[in-house]
Amino acid sequence: MVESLTHDARGVAHIDGKTTFIEGALPGERVRFRYHNKRPRYDTGTTLEVLEPSSDRIEPPCPHYSSCGGCSLQHLAAPAQVRAKQKILAETLEHVGRVEPRQWLAPIEGPPTGYRRRARLGVRFVPKKGGVLVGFRERRHSYITPLDSCLTLDPRLGALLPPLRDTIGRLSRPDRMPQVELSAADSGCAAVFRHLEPLTPADLEHLRLFAETNAITAYLQPGNPSTVHALWPRPAPVLSYYLPDFDVNLAVAPTDFIQVNGAVNRQLVTQAVTLLELIPADRALDLFCGLGNFTLALARHAGYVFGVEADAGLIERARANARTNALANVEFQAADLYGDDGLEFLSGRWTKLLLDPPRAGAMEVIKALPADGPQRIVYVSCNPATLARDSEYLVRVLGYRLEAAGVADMFPQTSHVESIALFVRA
Ligand SMILES: C[S@@+](CC[C@H](N)C(=O)[O-])C[C@H]1O[C@@H](n2cnc3c(N)ncnc32)[C@H](O)[C@@H]1O
Repeated sequence: MVESLTHDARGVAHIDGKTTFIEGALPGERVRFRYHNKRPRYDTGTTLEVLEPSSDRIEPPCPHYSSCGGCSLQHLAAPAQVRAKQKILAETLEHVGRVEPRQWLAPIEGPPTGYRRRARLGVRFVPKKGGVLVGFRERRHSYITPLDSCLTLDPRLGALLPPLRDTIGRLSRPDRMPQVELSAADSGCAAVFRHLEPLTPADLEHLRLFAETNAITAYLQPGNPSTVHALWPRPAPVLSYYLPDFDVNLAVAPTDFIQVNGAVNRQLVTQAVTLLELIPADRALDLFCGLGNFTLALARHAGYVFGVEADAGLIERARANARTNALANVEFQAADLYGDDGLEFLSGRWTKLLLDPPRAGAMEVIKALPADGPQRIVYVSCNPATLARDSEYLVRVLGYRLEAAGVADMFPQTSHVESIALFVRA
C-alpha cells in the first residue's frame, strides 16, 4: 500500500520495512511496479499497473504526459494536488524546521491548465525522428519530448509549437539552435531564439515571417543573455503585465525572471501586502525583488520601500517600473544577498520585510537582521525545505512567531511547491 507522496511526486511505500519510492503511484493505492534501483537505505521504481486506484486518480489529460518532464502530477485531480502540496509544506515545516503555523492560509489557486506564461523549450535536430523536435526534457533523460501541444502553456504559447518546429526546420543549421524561450505577457508574446552560428539572410527571413504570421516579437540570442536583441518588429513593443489591485504595470525583458503563473502571482502579491499590514509610516524592505513585482505593490501602501536584487538588469527594469508607475517612495540596489558586501542596509530601521529568495533560501540575510528587526516578515518560498530551515532560525533564534502559512499553486500539474509564510516579532 502506498502511504504518501514525496516532494517530487513519487509514492512512498514500505516493502518488508524498506522505504520504496514509486513513480506514478498515489497514496492509498496498491500498484505493481518495476524496480529501477536498489540502494542500501531505499529502493526506487516505476508503476506498471494500478491494482487499486486512489479516488483522486484521473486519466492524465495530456498525450505527452508519460514521457515529458514538464509535468509530474497530471494523474492526480487538481484539488488533490493542492492538498498534497499543503501536506508536504506542513510536514516539512514540522520535520525540518520543528515549527507549526498558528493558522493555515487558504491555498492560492488559479486555473490548473494554460497558466504558464514563460517557458524555455529545448530544440534538437534528430533526422531519424523526423527532423526538428521542440519541447521539454524527458522525465528521466536529457532527450526532448517533441510537443505539438502543451496543457500548461498559456494557449497563445501552445499555439506556437507546430509553427515553431516548422520554422526551425527551414533554417540552414537547425542543429545549431538549442533553445527557444517563450513569453506571454499581458501586452503580447515573444520568442527568443538562441543560435550558436550566425544566421543567414534566408534564416532571418524565416524567423521574421514566423513572428509576423503569429503576431509575436522575435528576439535573437547569439551569445550570453546580454546579447538578446529584437529581430522583428523593431523597435520591439514593451512586454508588460498588470497588477490590478495596485494599479501597477510592470515592464519585463523577454528573458527576465517573472513569476510563471500570472493569476496566482496577482493573488500572491495581494496576499503578501495584506499580511504585512502596511501603513504609511512603514519602511519596508523587499529582498530578492526582481523587477519590482512585490516592491511596487508594497510602495502603494508603505511610506518607503527599498528593493534589493543581484541582477543589475532586473534592478534597471525595477527602477524604470517605479518611474512609469509614478512611485517616488521606492529605491533599488543591486547586491549579492548571499555575500558579505553591500549588506549594510540590513541594519537600518525596517518595520516590514518581504523575502522571495531562490531555492537556496535566505539564511544569510536572516542571520544579518538586527535584534530589533522588522515587526512582520512575509516569506515567499519556492522550496519548502529551505523555508523550514529558515523558519526554525526566525522562530528559535530571533524569537519570531510563525503566524500563518499556506501554499500558492504556482505550478499546477507539477510537484513544485510555492508557499507563503508570515512571521511576527513577538
Ligand atoms: C524567486 S525570484 C523572485 C523575484 C521577484 N521577487 C518577483 O516576484 O518577480 C528570486 C530572485 O532572486 C534573485 N537572486 C538570485 N540570487 C541572488 C543573490 N545572490 N542575491 C540577490 N538576489 C538574487 C534572482 O535574480 C531573482 O530575481
